[in-house]
Amino acid sequence: MRRLSLVAGIAALGLALAGCGGDGSDTSAGDTGSNSGSGTEASGEVEVFTWWTEGGEKAGLDGLVKVFGEKYPNLKFVNGAVAGGAGSNAKAVLASRLQTQDPPDTFQGHAGGELSDYIKAGQLEDLSDLYQSEGWSDIFPKTLIDAITYDGKLYSVPANVHRANVVWANPTVLEKAGVDPTAAPESIADWITDLDKVKASGVENPLSIATDWTQVQLLETVLIADLKAEGYAGLWTGDTKWDSPEVTAALNDYAKLMSYTNSNRSSLDWPDAANMVRDGKAGYNVMGDWVAANWQGEKLEEGKDYVYMPVPGSQGIFDFLSDSFTLPVGAKNPEGAKDWLRVVGSAEGQQSFNTVKGSIPARTDADAADYPAYQQSAIKDFSSDTIVPSLAHGAAASIAWLNDITSAVGKFGTSSFDSGAVSELQSGLVQAASNNLQS
Ligand code: GAL
Repeated sequence: MRRLSLVAGIAALGLALAGCGGDGSDTSAGDTGSNSGSGTEASGEVEVFTWWTEGGEKAGLDGLVKVFGEKYPNLKFVNGAVAGGAGSNAKAVLASRLQTQDPPDTFQGHAGGELSDYIKAGQLEDLSDLYQSEGWSDIFPKTLIDAITYDGKLYSVPANVHRANVVWANPTVLEKAGVDPTAAPESIADWITDLDKVKASGVENPLSIATDWTQVQLLETVLIADLKAEGYAGLWTGDTKWDSPEVTAALNDYAKLMSYTNSNRSSLDWPDAANMVRDGKAGYNVMGDWVAANWQGEKLEEGKDYVYMPVPGSQGIFDFLSDSFTLPVGAKNPEGAKDWLRVVGSAEGQQSFNTVKGSIPARTDADAADYPAYQQSAIKDFSSDTIVPSLAHGAAASIAWLNDITSAVGKFGTSSFDSGAVSELQSGLVQAASNNLQS
C-alpha cells in the first residue's frame, strides 16, 4: 500500500500569496483527527457555484454532492454552476454577483493569485476556525496552505491538485507518422520535429487547441519548458523580465506550435480540442489532467487509446493548480456552507471527487492505490517534482493580470504567427506585467 507523501521533497516556486503572513502554522490545530460530519444542525439550501457541468467535471461535483447528501441530509444542494471551461463564463458572473452582494453560499476559486483577489476585496470569510476544528493545517501540504493563507488567516478549502503541463497524444496517429508514442521528446525543438512528421503523414492540424484560455495554458507551458521552473516563477515576481531575449525565444517556440493548430480554435472549448486527439484528427493536445477524467469516464484505455507526457522540456516540473472552496461574505446559509466545506476537506469527499476528476487529493493522508493509473503517476510526480503555479488557472497571477495576458494571447491567436505578431505579443505581455506586477 502506498501512502502519499506530498510534503517531502517538494520544491515550490512562487506560490505564496503576496502579503502572505506565513506558513499557517499559527493556525494549526495540533491534532490530525478530523471532525468531518460533526458539523452543525444547519438546514436549508446551500448554493454551490462552479463551472463543472459535463463529463469528469460534473462527475467530480456529483461525487461531492453524494457525500454531502449522506452526511447532511437536512441540507439541500443547489447547483449554481455556469458552463464554460476554466470558468471562462463563470468568473464574470461570479464577479457581478459578488459586486451586487448576491453571493452563492460557496464558490470554487483557485488557490493562489485568484484567491488573493477575493481576499483583498474583502469578499471572503476567514476559515481559520474551521481549519482548527477539522485539523486541516496538518493534513494539507505546505504548498497549498501557503497558497490559501493571507495575513496568517486561511481562506479556502482545497479539494484537489490538478496538473496543467500535460500533453495528451493519440498513439495510432503518432505511429502512422513514424513517431514512437512511448518516446517523449526532450525539448520543444524535438517536439517540433515530431509535429512535422505528423503533419507530413497527412494530419492537417497535428496540435489541437481551443479558445483563448487554452492558448494561455499552452503559452504558460512553453514558458516553463524554455525558462525552466525558476525562470518561469520569476515572471511573477519581476525577477525574470518579460522583454528578455529568453522570453522572445519562448514566444517564437509558442508561435511555431500555434502554426500547427486548427484555425477554428476560437469556437472550441477544451473538450472539443481534446476530442480531436481522441478521434485521430490531431496528434497532440496540451491540457490539464481533467482530460484524464473525461477519458477514464468514457472507458478509453490508457496506452492504447491515448498516452500522456509532460510538455517536452518541462519534465520534472509540475505546473500546479488547486480548486478550492470558499465562504463568501454575505452567504445566505453560512453554517450550511461550512458543512459543504467540511465535505470538501474530508478524506471521503476528496476520494469521491478526485477519483473521477483527474486530479489528486489535496490531503496528504490519501491512499494512492484508490486512484486510477493516471492519478497514481501524478501523485508520484507531485511528491518529487518542482512545483510551479499555473497562470491560466489562477495560481500564478491576479485575475486582472491574467485578463491582460489573455487579451494579448487572444489577439495573437487571430494573427498569422509571424515575427511582427510575436513582437506585438511580447509588447502586450510586457505591458501586462507593468500594469499588474506591483499592484
Ligand atoms: C480549471 C479548473 C479545473 C477544470 C478546468 C477546465 O480552471 O480548475 O477543475 O474544471 O478549469 O474547466
